[in-house]
Amino acid sequence: MPIATPIEFFLMFLAKFDLMKIQIINGPNLNLLGVREKSIYGDSSFEAYLEKLRGRYPAVEIEYYQSNVEGEIINKIHEVGFSFDGIILNAGAYTHTSIAIADAIAAIKAPVIEVHISNVYKREEFRHNSMLAANCMGVIAGFGMNSYRLAVESLLSE
Ligand code: DQA
Repeated sequence: MPIATPIEFFLMFLAKFDLMKIQIINGPNLNLLGVREKSIYGDSSFEAYLEKLRGRYPAVEIEYYQSNVEGEIINKIHEVGFSFDGIILNAGAYTHTSIAIADAIAAIKAPVIEVHISNVYKREEFRHNSMLAANCMGVIAGFGMNSYRLAVESLLSE
């Protein structure tokens, strides 16, 4: 094997200090966290939670995107799916219906963790089925906003 040149050594050194990049994607109605069905989803906005999450992981670049539109969620998965180290996806109700989002997850390189704030298995039967889970690295559900932190921990331990 050829020995690395000084420039290659320098690039490897820089890569070590590259921040890990994680994309959080929230789907429909999750822009209303803190307002919507507080007894299920709590009273914090996602933005307030995100600030705490970023503070807890200063060495991780955590990007956030929310959309109520299925195609826009797919576009974001495509956009970051070949450059980010992981995606934390709460697809909201699309979790239970969207073959198109499942296909997008299968098409990209980055590992995806499906998260839910509520314990979907304690709720209506239609929430027990995920179209996405089989294409994801894993599923975290039922820990409130902490579900997102547990997903960050899982990606960090990879
Ligand atoms: C949710 C659970 C979904 O069933 C629901 O449609 C949501 C939120 C959760 O985070 O608990 O919008 O994904």
